[in-house]
Order: sequence, then structure tokens, then C-alpha cells
Amino acid sequence: MEASRGVLIAGNWKMNHGPKETRSFAAAAVSQWKTALSEKTRAAIQSGRLSAHVFPPSVSLESARDAFQETAVTVGAQNVHFEEKGAFTGEISGPMLKEIGVGWTLVGHSERRQYFGETNETVKKKAESHLRQGFTAVLCFGESRSEREAGETNSVLENQLKTGLPAEWNQRLILAYEPVWAIGTGLTATPEQAEEAHAFSRSILADRYGREAAVRTKILYGGSMTPENVRDLLKQPNVDGGLVGGASLKPESFLALLEGAGSLL
Ligand code: 13P
Repeated sequence: MEASRGVLIAGNWKMNHGPKETRSFAAAAVSQWKTALSEKTRAAIQSGRLSAHVFPPSVSLESARDAFQETAVTVGAQNVHFEEKGAFTGEISGPMLKEIGVGWTLVGHSERRQYFGETNETVKKKAESHLRQGFTAVLCFGESRSEREAGETNSVLENQLKTGLPAEWNQRLILAYEPVWAIGTGLTATPEQAEEAHAFSRSILADRYGREAAVRTKILYGGSMTPENVRDLLKQPNVDGGLVGGASLKPESFLALLEGAGSLL
């Protein structure tokens, strides 16, 4: 992390936690807030140096918005179409999210790419559309196990970013490096592997948008991040936070991730 960029912990709940579980999660997080988080961490959250986010399923967004209302936790959507309305069965749009007061989106998660046919081209369209509509967009990318084993990591990341990044830089653009082999497997990238990929990705950002924009862009790490490994990962200079699946599903471990991040600030 580089303190001037701020640090971010985001829980991607994937297809977990309906409205009722969302309300219980939030109630537990609120009641444990002061005991689980040190004064230092709470101060970091209050000042905005550390921020906390959850991405529940679409059907739970309004519950999450209401339940987290009095907290510093921001709510985002996991999948949002690039068009603003129309005949796209099953999809939701930016204006719908705005109507319910949700301001963050995930774009191009590897599960969306793997199971729902998202490509670098649709990732780019979504990122551009969401940013234009005023959302903060977290653009996910990362190599598969076979690509890493074949020594293709950098070329895969370069291609995903060169074709998936929006044409214009925007301060609301955030990247999330998520090596597919580390997602849900318990196999975390080592801090060195994460740093290498993040530094490389930042160099691609610099080529595209210039050095200043690259230095200002947060790059999160995702893939079996836990309260146990969060500190070592965040100590890396180019790792600016975490996008966390499994370990974000329980309020205790979500708060422990925040505490891990806060302890470094
Ligand atoms: P896990 O933390 O469960 O590995 O998931 C990571 C992820 O995909 C976050 O978007």
C-alpha cells in the first residue's frame, strides 16, 4: 500500500446472502464495530484513509443500503449492464442502481468471464458506461493457473488491460488483480507474486494514461485473502486493498480484514 492512495477492503459476496442474511450481517457488524476494530482503525475509516465496501447480490442491495446506512460501509453491485435500459432479460442498469442509491460496481469478475461469457470488450463497455454514469467501477482481471504455469502471466494481464481498460482514465476507476487460480482455492498469491503483477499492471496504466494517473489508481488484490494474510499482502507497495470473497461472508472475518488493514495505517 501507499498510504496516499488510501486502502480499501471490499467484500464480494457473490451468490450469497439474501436480504434477510444481509440484514443479520449488517446488524452483527454494527454491534461488533467498536470491539472488533481498534480506535486507530476506526479513525482511519472515519478519515477515509481506509474504506469498507460490500457487494451483495442485486436482490439484497436495498437491504444492504438500509442496514449499513449509519455505518461507513458502502454498497456496490456485482454486475451491471452497459446499456441504461432495454431488452436485456435478467440484467440491471446504472439508472436503476442510482435510483436505490448504490454508487459502486464490479466489472469483469473472472466468474462473469468464465460462466457468463464476458469478454475484454464487454468489460471495456461496462467500465466506460459505469464511469460515465458516475459510478466507481472496480475492474477485475487476472490469469488462470495454466496461463501462469505456461509463463504467460504478463502477456495475459497486458492483453486484458489493453483491451479492457476504458479509453479515458477516471479517478473513479479501480483495478482488482484476481489470479483465477487463487479464487476460492485457499491458494493465495504470495506477497511477491501479487506485488509483481500489481507493479506490472501499474506500468500498463502508466503507458495508457500517464504516470500520474497510474500512481493515483488503486489496485486491489483478490484471491483467498484472509485476516491471516491481509497484512503481508497490503505491505506490498503496489497492493492497495483487497477484494475478498469467502473471508468477507462472516461479519467477524470482514471486520478482522479491516482491522488487519487498519493496523498498517
Ligand atoms: P475468494 O476470496 O473466495 O478467493 O474470492 C476472491 C474473489 O473472487 C473476490 O472477487
